[in-house]
Amino acid sequence: MTTQARTLNVGVVGLGLAAASVTSATVGMPHVNLVAGADINPRALQVFKEKYGAKTYASIEALCDDPDIDTVWIATPNTCHCPHVILAAERGKHVIVEKPMAISLAEAESMIEAAERHGVQLLCGGSRSSSAVVRTMREVVGSGTLGRLRAMTTWSATDWMLRPRRPDELDISQGGGVVYRQAPHQVDSVRLLAGGKVSSVRGVTGQWMAPRHTAPGFFSALLECANGAIATLVYSAYGYFMASELFEPGASGPDAPGLQGRIEARRHITAGTRDEVATKEQRTLEAQRTGPAATAPRGARFLSDLGLLVVSCEHGDMRQSPAGIYIYSDAGTTEVPLTETRGAYAPELDELYDALVYGKPVLHSGRWGLATLEVCLAIMQSATAHRDIAMQHQVAVPSGV
Ligand SMILES: NC(=O)c1ccc[n+]([C@@H]2O[C@H](COP(=O)([O-])OP(=O)(O)OC[C@H]3O[C@@H](n4cnc5c(N)ncnc54)[C@H](O)[C@@H]3O)[C@@H](O)[C@H]2O)c1
Repeated sequence: MTTQARTLNVGVVGLGLAAASVTSATVGMPHVNLVAGADINPRALQVFKEKYGAKTYASIEALCDDPDIDTVWIATPNTCHCPHVILAAERGKHVIVEKPMAISLAEAESMIEAAERHGVQLLCGGSRSSSAVVRTMREVVGSGTLGRLRAMTTWSATDWMLRPRRPDELDISQGGGVVYRQAPHQVDSVRLLAGGKVSSVRGVTGQWMAPRHTAPGFFSALLECANGAIATLVYSAYGYFMASELFEPGASGPDAPGLQGRIEARRHITAGTRDEVATKEQRTLEAQRTGPAATAPRGARFLSDLGLLVVSCEHGDMRQSPAGIYIYSDAGTTEVPLTETRGAYAPELDELYDALVYGKPVLHSGRWGLATLEVCLAIMQSATAHRDIAMQHQVAVPSGV
């Protein structure tokens, strides 16, 4: 794509749950054209074609050979990210890859190297650092009105471990479990707020659901940032207490929405009576048919993957509010409403578009993604080694972002 072009012509590879949000985000973005989707599952291709009337391909190779496509969004399983990004870069496509960027630093390095060699942009997308909540909090921190940033706390409690899963999603050697899959949301967000660089990580992980003991469903981590701020991250994915309860009046108690479904899911997982692959596919096809609204968490500004985010500065705190964010200070409590109604994924497409068309700097670059992956890997490494892990690949938020 040249800098004169005014449309991103996008192909999406891996038409699953994540892709359902990507493809629906492209609708209503006049500068983004959804050209095609690729998947190895013919049923996913059929649903995609019925919904969007776009081209379909049975392989990433075929999609990347389409000259009408200049940008490829990779939403395949984690083990595919590295080969798929390299393949797309070799064919001259700009790439946005889902979190986690890769499952090892060596993979991430080879992806960055491929993008550089072929002169294409590589964006590491899909994390909640692109959300209006985090971006607005960053503006407040940057304005200095609350004094220096001192601490950040993210606390998420979801049912991630109860959802139907393919075996690779619960195999840590294939990028499974909540540290690989969910920590990037929290890590990316606190890195953005703290200027980008983490200096050391102490982490613990937990895996206490007997049939799903192959990958962590819990983690907690303490991050020391290069600017002196600290971040405490907690994620629990066993679906008893759901953090969304705190944001939805009436969401707790015996009739809480989703409660019976979670109890059922736990029973089936324990008894081994749910066909995981078939149920996952059913859920995926449904999400592609109906769009992300059906599966999105309720609560105006609550992002379940990120959880409750509390940002503490010298002279005040911030957290999500029903309409935006609350700012607590000696001036009282004010609510800053957020008017952006677009969901996740649109910001990444804009970020790539602005880089290609206006030459703006990219935040979620390959190097940024590698630094986030380094922190996620360190959480797991620290949990085994029982010590702090020093970071070596951190990058600052580029100026102008
Ligand atoms: N950003 C987010 O909020 C978010 C949410 C969910 C998943 N994800 C990420 O998206 C990725 C996919 O997760 P998911 O939950 O959507 O999984 P999914 O199983 O729903 O979708 C993956 C799709 O990829 C297809 N696929 C597998 N191998 C392929 C190949 N070689 N070529 C083409 N297609 C292939 C599968 O058939 C499936 O349709 C993961 O990396 C995950 O971490 C991100």
